[in-house]
Amino acid sequence: MPEPFPDLIILHLRDALSRLPFAVDLPANFVPKVDPTQNRAFGDYQTNTAMVLAKVLKRNPREVAAAICEAFDGGEIFETPEIAGPGFVNFRLATGVLEKRVSDLLDDTERLGVPRTNAPKTIVLDFSAPNVAKPMHVGHIRSTIIGDGLGRIAKFLGHRVISDNHIGDWGTQFGMILWGWKHHLDEAALARDPVEELLRIYRKVNALAKEDENVLNTCREELVKLQSGDAENLAIWEHCVEVSKEGLQKVYDLLDVRFDHWYGESFYNDRLLPLVEDLLGSGIAEVSEGAVCVFFRDNEHLADKPAIIRKQDGGFLYATTDLATIDFRVSELGADAIWYVVGAPQQLHFEQIFSIAHRRGCRADLRHVAFGSILGKDRKMLKTRSGETVQLADVLKEAVDRARAIIEEKNPSLPEEEKADIAHAVGIGSVKYAELSQFRMTDYIFDWDTMLSLKGNTAPYLINAYVRTRAIFRKLGAEFDQGGGNLTLGEEAEKTLALKLAQYAEVVPVILEDFRPNTLSAYLYEVATAYHQFWEACPVLKTEGDTRHSRLALCELTGRVLRHGLGLLGIRVPERM
Ligand code: ARG
Repeated sequence: MPEPFPDLIILHLRDALSRLPFAVDLPANFVPKVDPTQNRAFGDYQTNTAMVLAKVLKRNPREVAAAICEAFDGGEIFETPEIAGPGFVNFRLATGVLEKRVSDLLDDTERLGVPRTNAPKTIVLDFSAPNVAKPMHVGHIRSTIIGDGLGRIAKFLGHRVISDNHIGDWGTQFGMILWGWKHHLDEAALARDPVEELLRIYRKVNALAKEDENVLNTCREELVKLQSGDAENLAIWEHCVEVSKEGLQKVYDLLDVRFDHWYGESFYNDRLLPLVEDLLGSGIAEVSEGAVCVFFRDNEHLADKPAIIRKQDGGFLYATTDLATIDFRVSELGADAIWYVVGAPQQLHFEQIFSIAHRRGCRADLRHVAFGSILGKDRKMLKTRSGETVQLADVLKEAVDRARAIIEEKNPSLPEEEKADIAHAVGIGSVKYAELSQFRMTDYIFDWDTMLSLKGNTAPYLINAYVRTRAIFRKLGAEFDQGGGNLTLGEEAEKTLALKLAQYAEVVPVILEDFRPNTLSAYLYEVATAYHQFWEACPVLKTEGDTRHSRLALCELTGRVLRHGLGLLGIRVPERM
């Protein structure tokens, strides 16, 4: 595996620091910061080390930078570094090194230079997790798309990922569903579209219960009957869960999202009572006003926010189930880490259960990967015209339809089947990319025109760049079948693109540090832009010999990086569009 360039720079930089003409006493754990430059006019990489040192040494930063440049021996790999601005040191790779790197990357078809983690973990990934018989709305789309993307990235880096869809299949909504099932069920509608019919019942009873206290009370009774094992209610419940899962599966198929397990909330029912008893026995929980609670007295932030794990009436709660879930995932699934991709409003819940789990001695790394909301163009929560929550399945269908219209206009002569396939890839890809190109905590505006635009940081723009790389080989009438071999990079646009492509290896490994798939999107956008500039500046098929081979190599590697990177985001690329 080729060494990432920043690591090479750090190596030589450390060496240079040990040979400065003045003594520097650096803390043992000091790691120089080396970043890619924004503009290649200032070299390929840059460090602020001289400025950091100058502060400690009380010297002029440019003077320290000059000494570093003088002492830096980059051998054949780097040109002599240069000072910039207030004391940055800029590094530039020798062209031969870039040429060799692109060539090596072409031979590394599987990893494209990206190293595997040297600390592989078993990660249970908890995402999507909608509630049965309630609408799966666009809020769940964020969890589903971010979770799936993180899982793909973690797997590629060498972790063992176990995805678990913790569906809400045992909530209070079943009181309403059961009562509605018994009094308002439309059998024909149920046969046609069960998920739709359950949703209709839920909405109807919800509205009725708001007006009529009797309805609300009978719903509660139905729920209690279910919870105490009433055979009729259990059978209805089971049926509802079954059809809902089938409905969800269709959406996941559209999205190409897969789960290893669907251990829903009900799976933990038998474990709740023993868990609460255990917590009471160990003194972590206590009885307070008839309920069983856990207090966080020595946590300033949570001091006045106890977690209830059993209600006065004996019922268990969301938190109780989640605690049982952690036990199960650690002891039976072997989790070293559990990542919860769930909206920011549940932050308190996760703080509480993580704190309890740690007090019980859980050593797994528990993370809440939170995210913000999706807003409509009016900057309010996204709603349908009639004011209802937007359904995920409808969003996906509309995305494909709109992509189809664009393709129809752009390339009407393609065969029908291919058009449908492209529309699917571009439509679903656009919805996913709109999500993954934002920092997850940002509230983003859901806007069809922006996300389907062929310009800007969008899926269609990136897919189009990929498609262009493929068009060259179609024109050539051959695949790029040789390895890299000897390459020559003459033009600036070629070098800029080559460097970008080499940096895939630097970008992918850090995405998981703060769960930011958007850093990958930003990078892929830069690749596409660099490719575009290369395309404008450097003819490919009109040239010959080494130049032609090298340019074809850049086209091929660009295509591979774009396809692979988009693949890590769960986005599929067609060969034409
Ligand atoms: N069903 C919950 C909801 O829709 C999300 C569950 C998230 N996972 C968990 N282990 N709590 O809000």
